[in-house]
Amino acid sequence: SITHVILTGGVGSRLWPLSRKSQPKQYLEIFEGKSLFEMTVDRNRHLASKVMVVGNIDNHHLSNKVMGKTQTSYINIVEATPRNTAAAIAFAAFASDPDDILIITPSDHIIDKMENYNLAISEAIIKAEDGFIVTFGIIPTKPETGYGYIESKGDKVISFREKPNETTAKEFISKGNFLWNSGMFCFKAGVLLEELKQYQPDVYEKSKAVWEANKEGFLNLDLSLEIPSISIDYAVMERSKKIKVVPAAFSWSDLGSFESVYDYLVSKNHPIDKNGNMVIGSGKHTTFLGLKNTIFVYTDTANLILQKENSQDVKDIYSELEKIN
Ligand code: GDD
Ligand code: MG
Repeated sequence: SITHVILTGGVGSRLWPLSRKSQPKQYLEIFEGKSLFEMTVDRNRHLASKVMVVGNIDNHHLSNKVMGKTQTSYINIVEATPRNTAAAIAFAAFASDPDDILIITPSDHIIDKMENYNLAISEAIIKAEDGFIVTFGIIPTKPETGYGYIESKGDKVISFREKPNETTAKEFISKGNFLWNSGMFCFKAGVLLEELKQYQPDVYEKSKAVWEANKEGFLNLDLSLEIPSISIDYAVMERSKKIKVVPAAFSWSDLGSFESVYDYLVSKNHPIDKNGNMVIGSGKHTTFLGLKNTIFVYTDTANLILQKENSQDVKDIYSELEKIN
């Protein structure tokens, strides 16, 4: 059978203060009263016969609420603490039969052109049936350092490189045969686990121990803390020989950092001044003097002023910032 697995354990640290530990960005109802999480559920509803939500103890009440609202029955996996996506995906695979096809999606993307999305997923399912781990490739538009890069020829993956530095990202873009990794994946549960076992045995064994000790989907904290925190991209995608890519003709936007939020808002005609400065979250008139490409983020409890180019750095100060209130 086919299962849609929604990853929703991340805290969206690069979008502080829009995204808070108590209210991660995927639960903000920013689009006609719907959150990105709910849109993710809707988008995949007709593609899978089962839904699985892998989230964490701090926010599972938020996913429960949406699942209740959409009346979707689902398998709930609640992590005691975030251990990154390799472990989160391993739990989903352990909860499945080895031959089950999993469609893994984040819960915080904007996707348009649904016919193309549906086609890409169907194509991926066929390749996953054949034992491949399928990624979805997006045509890159700039040397973004927050994404994975897929070097490809047709559906063959020559190499996968997660979050390169800017020089490398520029090289990749100039070569022309690199795509961005969308962050969605499709594979058989058993295939993914075999690859994880081969390339990250420690993550595999420790996630397995946590899964085997699990009580009704709630995972044990002490055992979880033993799992190395590594993303699936570094753990498996950079190493596996079984990766394929489906070029994504759907439109895709990852609202992962203020730079991508900025680009998205510009495409939706959100105002910027002549020097590229933008205000997010306030209708109050704001004047920027002597500043370029600055983003002002206003919320009820905290503000952030940043240079657009520093969008990736918000992550580094997030843990300090979250202590504020
Ligand atoms: N359950 C769970 N547990 N989910 C998690 C955890 C965790 O510990 N950590 C992250 N997630 C969820 C996030 O909420 C998000 O939906 C998804 O997994 C991906 O995590 P991100 O932290 O957003 O990853 P990223 O944006 O740095 O990189 C990934 O996505 C890019 C595209 O958006 C990679 O796959 C890149 O290669 C890719 O280009
Ligand atoms: Mg992301």
